[in-house]
Amino acid sequence: MVVVQVISRFSRHHLPGLYVVTTQPVQRRYQCSDVPVKKFPPPGTNLPSLKRGTGGRSSFNGIVATVFGASGFLGRYLVNKLGKIGTQVIIPYRGESYDILRLRMCGDLGQILFFPFHLSDEESLYKVMKYSNVVINLIGRDFETRSFTFDDVHVEGPRAIARIAKDCGVQRFVHMSALNAAEKPKPVILKSGSHFLASKWAGEQAVREEFPEAIVFRPADIYGHEDRFLRYYSHFWRRNIRHLPLWKKGKETIKQPVFVSDVAEAIVNSIFDPDAVGKTFEAVGPRRYELGELVDWFHLLMKKDTDWGYKRTDLRYDLIFQTRIFLTEKIIGKYPLLSWERVEREHVTDTPTRGVPSLEDLGITLTYMEDRVPFELRPFRALAYYDAELGEFEKPPAPPAPVM
Ligand SMILES: NC(=O)c1ccc[n+]([C@@H]2O[C@H](COP(=O)([O-])OP(=O)(O)OC[C@H]3O[C@@H](n4cnc5c(N)ncnc54)[C@H](OP(=O)(O)O)[C@@H]3O)[C@@H](O)[C@H]2O)c1
Repeated sequence: MVVVQVISRFSRHHLPGLYVVTTQPVQRRYQCSDVPVKKFPPPGTNLPSLKRGTGGRSSFNGIVATVFGASGFLGRYLVNKLGKIGTQVIIPYRGESYDILRLRMCGDLGQILFFPFHLSDEESLYKVMKYSNVVINLIGRDFETRSFTFDDVHVEGPRAIARIAKDCGVQRFVHMSALNAAEKPKPVILKSGSHFLASKWAGEQAVREEFPEAIVFRPADIYGHEDRFLRYYSHFWRRNIRHLPLWKKGKETIKQPVFVSDVAEAIVNSIFDPDAVGKTFEAVGPRRYELGELVDWFHLLMKKDTDWGYKRTDLRYDLIFQTRIFLTEKIIGKYPLLSWERVEREHVTDTPTRGVPSLEDLGITLTYMEDRVPFELRPFRALAYYDAELGEFEKPPAPPAPVM
């Protein structure tokens, strides 16, 4: 497409009044003009009949999966697991293409494909789903931005994706919600409760309206490499120098964190499980812990004990920390590491719903925190120059006693 481009840059800085007009083709981030705006017919090819190979990374298992939100924390684990079993993965992305290029390693040559998209551009959504028989929506955000509110990202976006997936004849649709999502989440600190959780609940309803057979996952806090649970508590900004403020010292909050690889494996299993269609799964870890004790344990693992100056305090009486949250929101705006919304959500007790299936129903053997967390927190240790192998450090402390 030839677009007339007016470069006014020169006129502003160098030659006032002079406009340079070129007839150069202008590179657009994406171009969907070849895509009809309205409904797509279902794919004509029977993809499973094209299966080939023995089932490893260099084979094709008959699944073409579009993974929205693949650039995120869970997305990388999921794409790797899909690539490992010979899935062709379509990755819609926004922003810089080099940021997600590393995901190309997850599959064989030509099996991981990238397409630019925008959540509110339906043409681009059609384009990335029209050849797929599986769609997985991992899009989510812990904080609102200037361009996207919680409702945009968790309700309207998923609704559009689910509707278009249905139009395209997609056979399996997986959607990520969140544990404790509720129409009116029980407030802990904020009078209105967590807006994130309310929008996740509305997102589930929107997806079910458009794609009733969708498989919905509600994960608790997910931990693993580059997570936002362990790293949140190990970040200096979450502390008041060496004191860690928690609401009521974290004594009234119970958490049941789940390992990222278990969640990713469960999503893959759900695609192949005919019984999973239309069900909601709650992704929680094998044990429940009191938040305060859990955070103490993280600090012990990081060698940040009472000798180092660590102390758990009560956020209700910590006016310095409250002022810091207030100023962070006022000055920096929406900051993922410190906001009232984040603090509210971290103090909501994980409450799995009775009778709702869990990851174990999808054949997952859940990972225990003590088997992973010491490794994950290793980079955050105080006195990191000492080598544990020299015997200078004793064995990692045992995790706190689980609660029922
Ligand atoms: N991690 C947890 O502890 C946890 C707990 C409960 C529920 N969940 C839910 O599980 C899902 C996956 O979690 P995660 O930890 O992998 O999330 P994440 O690391 O924050 O990744 C979110 C993904 O969503 C994309 N995204 C966000 N806003 C977007 C927008 N406006 N338009 C297009 N793409 C957008 C991001 O793309 P960019 O890279 O371009 O920003 C990224 O790929 C999310 O829905 C999350 O809410 C996670």
